[in-house]
Amino acid sequence: MRTVASRLIDSRASLSRLYTMAAGYGERRCFSNDSNKVDEPFKVEEAETVNVPPPPQEKLLVLGGNGFVGSHILREALDRGLSVASLSRSGKSSLHDPWANNVTWYQGNLLSPDSLKDALDGVSAVISCVGGFGSQSYMYKINGTANINAIRAASEKGVKRFVYISAADFGLANYILRGYYEGKKAAEAELLAKFPYGGIILRPGFIYGTRGVGSLKLPLGVIGSPMEMVLQHAKPLNQLPLIGPLFTPPVDVNAVARVALRAATDPVFPPGIIDVYGIQRYRQ
Ligand SMILES: NC(=O)c1ccc[n+]([C@@H]2O[C@H](COP(=O)([O-])OP(=O)(O)OC[C@H]3O[C@@H](n4cnc5c(N)ncnc54)[C@H](OP(=O)(O)O)[C@@H]3O)[C@@H](O)[C@H]2O)c1
Repeated sequence: MRTVASRLIDSRASLSRLYTMAAGYGERRCFSNDSNKVDEPFKVEEAETVNVPPPPQEKLLVLGGNGFVGSHILREALDRGLSVASLSRSGKSSLHDPWANNVTWYQGNLLSPDSLKDALDGVSAVISCVGGFGSQSYMYKINGTANINAIRAASEKGVKRFVYISAADFGLANYILRGYYEGKKAAEAELLAKFPYGGIILRPGFIYGTRGVGSLKLPLGVIGSPMEMVLQHAKPLNQLPLIGPLFTPPVDVNAVARVALRAATDPVFPPGIIDVYGIQRYRQ
């Protein structure tokens, strides 16, 4: 009984406080109207501070991030303030540059997809730079099977965007390098099937830039850059049957890195295949 009474008193007190505030506000408005004063802003005595958590940071996983193209992508992503991780068989490997300390390095083999699961936690986009040369069956496995495993694992984990660094057609050399070429095509088909809205395939020809080989730095741009200057204006030659692909212009590794990152992070970047001319266009 006493509780009910005290609640009634409390609620009457609250109501009367509300009424007093409302009446006071009305009086102020009337008063200011009468005297032609500008309305004073309504003053709130106590305001509650609401802590809105910052939006979660986008996390990018680069497969093969310790390689030539992968390391350029990681560096560019860090420059843009992204949170980045890399996975490869050797982990951090031989990279000694200071920026490499800001990358989370995972060791894993895409041919054993289970080793990828931890690295995919909380990842919103993946860029795969995994590929290589060797025997026909090895080339199929590394360019095809390894990437197909990664695409499936990423799709199961709900990753939103997946960028695959494939390669331009080799023309006459397609037969000699058929393991490489067929592996790339199989991975491309899987990507388009599993990521119809967020799957992007880059098909560069020769990629030039500074490639680290052990402690050596090979300046591939010495040949690549002038060739790009000449061949980018010879697009019709690239359409010739069989020999056309020999005229595919080389492309700067920084351009590939920039376009791959844009494709991975820009939600309106169109899904599908980007050839070397597209890479040159999007690099801007
Ligand atoms: N460079 C070019 O001129 C060029 C041209 C056209 C297309 N591409 C394509 O672009 C991509 C990147 O080329 P790149 O020149 O940067 O090659 P890269 O330097 O040889 O890098 C390949 C990366 O893949 C990793 N890797 C290989 N097998 C793996 C596996 N089973 N599991 C996990 N990681 C694996 C390697 O690290 P570990 O050895 O430590 O595993 C390395 O980090 C490749 O797909 C290539 O075919 C390159």
